[in-house]
Amino acid sequence: MNHASDIIEIEGLQTRFGQHIVHENLNLEVKKGEVLTLVGGSGSGKTTLLRQMLGLEYPAKGHVRIFGRSRYNDSLTLRKSIRNRTGVLFQQGALFSALTVYDNIALPLRELRVFDEQTIHDLVMIKLNMVAIGPEHTHKMPANLSGGMIKRVSLARALALDPELLFLDEPTAGLDPELSQSFVEIIQDMRNKLDLTIVMVTHDLDTLVGLSDRIAVLAEKKVIATGSLARICNHTHPFIKNFFKNIQDKHQHTDPRKPSWKTDPTHL
Ligand SMILES: Nc1ncnc2c1ncn2[C@@H]1O[C@H](COP(=O)(O)OP(=O)(O)OP(=O)(O)O)[C@@H](O)[C@H]1O
Ligand SMILES: [Mg+2]
Repeated sequence: MNHASDIIEIEGLQTRFGQHIVHENLNLEVKKGEVLTLVGGSGSGKTTLLRQMLGLEYPAKGHVRIFGRSRYNDSLTLRKSIRNRTGVLFQQGALFSALTVYDNIALPLRELRVFDEQTIHDLVMIKLNMVAIGPEHTHKMPANLSGGMIKRVSLARALALDPELLFLDEPTAGLDPELSQSFVEIIQDMRNKLDLTIVMVTHDLDTLVGLSDRIAVLAEKKVIATGSLARICNHTHPFIKNFFKNIQDKHQHTDPRKPSWKTDPTHL
């Protein structure tokens, strides 16, 4: 606990909606510079946990600290400064449907009220370039974009303020394997260029293998294991065995040419 390298610290968290307890005595740390992937069953509380890290929801008990500061009892100025240091790609894409691609990405920049429109234009174009969206798409509305493009524009918006900490909730869900792979490559590339810490939720094996430094498993209302993929794969908890067995089967059936991480987990 309380390591200097921890960018997020969660301790003794309890989350409840009425009588329904989602998290009980949950502990988790996210270290500076890592990609931490959160896995867990549907409804296990992954999105809720991200929302609590973002300060959009508050737990019934426990502590969430981010950049060494409590998520609670903080001033509006502090909340804003934390918000400006974080970016998020929500599970549902969540672009503003009434705004163009350009305006969606410009929005967080305009809200800061420090840039003129020319600077905003340059920054928007840089971010679009990072996610491989050409300038011909800037004036399109979200309804006219493909699923893969919505994810990439959402990512560009999440990156608008050059965040230190990025939250990705199922970034490749609903994308075909090729688009999914290109999304993973964009994020890998960004990690090399920017000094990013990423907290990601995914159930897609290729995304998980392609990006994770560490995995945290959410089950039985808490984080039951954390570690490298190789380490997590050896865990005997039934949920973990089942979770990785399912995706391992899928992996083997979909592309037998790919090297099997099961036979050689050390390369992970
Ligand atoms: N605002 C809310 N009011 C009541 N219940 C809620 C609310 N938000 C989440 N829940 C419940 O909390 C549980 C966890 O939801 P959450 O969306 O965090 O799960 P998840 O792990 O992200 O699931 P998925 O993999 O399907 O995205 C679910 O049972 C959900 O119904
Ligand atoms: Mg979710």
